[in-house]
Amino acid sequence: MLLEGSHVLLTGATGTIGSALAAGFAALGARLTLVARGAGPLTDLAGELGATALPADLTRTDELADVVTRAEDGLGPVDVLVHNAGVEVLDELADADPAELAAAVALNLTAPLVLTRLVLPGMLARRRGHVVALSSLAGVASFPGLAAYGATKAGLTHAMAGLRLELRGTAVRTTTVEVGPVESPMMDRITEHPPTARAFARAHGLHLLRSLGPDEVAGAVVDAVARDRRHVRLPRRAAPLAAVAAAPRALVRTVLTGLPTATATRNATPARTR
Ligand SMILES: NC(=O)c1ccc[n+]([C@@H]2O[C@H](COP(=O)([O-])OP(=O)(O)OC[C@H]3O[C@@H](n4cnc5c(N)ncnc54)[C@H](OP(=O)(O)O)[C@@H]3O)[C@@H](O)[C@H]2O)c1
Repeated sequence: MLLEGSHVLLTGATGTIGSALAAGFAALGARLTLVARGAGPLTDLAGELGATALPADLTRTDELADVVTRAEDGLGPVDVLVHNAGVEVLDELADADPAELAAAVALNLTAPLVLTRLVLPGMLARRRGHVVALSSLAGVASFPGLAAYGATKAGLTHAMAGLRLELRGTAVRTTTVEVGPVESPMMDRITEHPPTARAFARAHGLHLLRSLGPDEVAGAVVDAVARDRRHVRLPRRAAPLAAVAAAPRALVRTVLTGLPTATATRNATPARTR
């Protein structure tokens, strides 16, 4: 998608990866609506980038329609929807706070599903759109202390795979981002939890992981949207793990739904007419 002039709705815009994403999209001339709860940092970032600040708590599922309406009233139809807001739950399930679990599911999984549902009809009608989801290698591999967080990310990755099938033959594209540890306060918190820290240390020791910089991740995501790429998997050394984890899903999909053919793709009924 040509990003210059495109309206990008970016959630979690004030976070470590979100602020790098906002800068990356702005540098290519995108018009940005930035979402997070904290109005102060959001307004400052929007001011720096010439973007629109839209403070909202995305765990309030009933208010998500209003978020989309306000974004589109401000800058017009959403061309690119980036699900970046996310929160970790860092505890063994036996000890986790039920309210924290529910909030993580609401933010990491329900909000992306509902926001996507809200923007898709418009994207399909205009034959223009791209949905991006910041998933995680924690949705590919299981780590102690991250069972709930990993479940939300695995769910998000799976939802994006299903969405891609539903969008076959339409002009709407998707990018699923599966990245390992990024230098960030979130990662600092994760590595303070001993069982999780040990599992990460082992993966680092085996050279399966390395720490990523937020600009590196954001640059790869912006580039993937510009080039209509389906996946961002970083670090590259861990990418085969994500591909292997996705392989059974692709195999079962092929068995159940058949290989996509050029004819089937051309004749596919756009999701909006079903
Ligand atoms: N950091 C990593 O190592 C890593 C690795 C793989 C994947 N990821 C994923 O990448 C994404 C960004 O991670 P990050 O480290 O940049 O996170 P972060 O720095 O903690 O930023 C989170 C962002 O989400 C916003 N947010 C939090 N709760 C919200 C809510 N209820 N409603 C609306 N906005 C909310 C925060 O702003 P407010 O608090 O002001 O709302 C902030 O802008 C997440 O989805 C994360 O799971 C991160």
